[in-house]
Amino acid sequence: MNVGIIGSGTMGSGIAQVAATAGCSVKLYDTNIDALHKAENTLDKILSRLIEKGRIDSAEKSRIQSNIDYVNSLHELGNSNLTIEAIVEDLDIKKKVFEHLETYVSEDCIIASNTSSLSIASIASALKKPERCIGIHFFNPAPLMKLVEVVPAIQTSEEVLSKSVDVITNWKKTVAVAKDTPGFIVNRVARPFYGEALRIYEEGIADFATIDWSLKTIGGFRMGPFELMDFIGNDVNYAVTESVFTAFYFDSRYKPSFTQKRLAEAGYLGRKSGKGYYDYSEGTAKPNP
Ligand code: NAI
Repeated sequence: MNVGIIGSGTMGSGIAQVAATAGCSVKLYDTNIDALHKAENTLDKILSRLIEKGRIDSAEKSRIQSNIDYVNSLHELGNSNLTIEAIVEDLDIKKKVFEHLETYVSEDCIIASNTSSLSIASIASALKKPERCIGIHFFNPAPLMKLVEVVPAIQTSEEVLSKSVDVITNWKKTVAVAKDTPGFIVNRVARPFYGEALRIYEEGIADFATIDWSLKTIGGFRMGPFELMDFIGNDVNYAVTESVFTAFYFDSRYKPSFTQKRLAEAGYLGRKSGKGYYDYSEGTAKPNP
């Protein structure tokens, strides 16, 4: 199966790894050459670590790597049977990319988005054949997280839904089919988790590290809300919150936080930029005052 991935950032590179591991021939596309190089180098490191841990051998590493082509023009995705878009969480930009993509791929290519929060119906409306559009929403890190939400829009055909579920199941993931509503299942439940933690911090009740410590030690969560926002990326997490807030007609339950907005504006994106709620510059995380 030929799979085209659009966007080679955190999610696109992880999804490419999943598809390549499952034996698909993957074209990973990004407008930014540096992002493509970074994706290639990161995959090399991840696979080398898996060899060190004895999970794969060097033949498997070469097989996975040889299944991925890193490409810098969209038309190279022309022979795809399935494309999954994982670019910036911006409806207008996604719609433009989908419009272009449709001119290159065949009639029966499934065109999917990994959006966390945007309306699949709205993204699909950019296509001449909206019935081929669907949400296929992986979680971060895509190679490790089992769950994938598959989200049909009202325009999506039954055939595209069932083919998508089959592909993702073959990629050894667990599928939850969710309705096309803001944040689907997991990101909707997660909004109050981040939002309330930010409110607790903004009200001066506790600092980031204490809130994270409490949730992990007492709540049993693997990561605290601030660690998790830094892991996801504050730009991405803020954009998702803003999108869910707007889509739910400004329901205060989903209100975004100025603390996070300022971090995103300053480029304090979290782990990927070396600084967020925590400072990662010395290899270990310290609360960033
Ligand atoms: P990212 O910022 O790590 O990567 C985005 C990539 O898209 C960048 O490499 C950028 O150069 C590229 N890009 C931007 N515009 C482009 C265009 N017009 N054409 C081609 N490439 C373009 O973002 P991330 O975190 O991978 O998120 C991507 C999507 O996945 C978003 O829709 C986000 O909501 C969703 N998502 C993110 C998760 C996360 O934890 N970060 C989890 C699940 C979904």
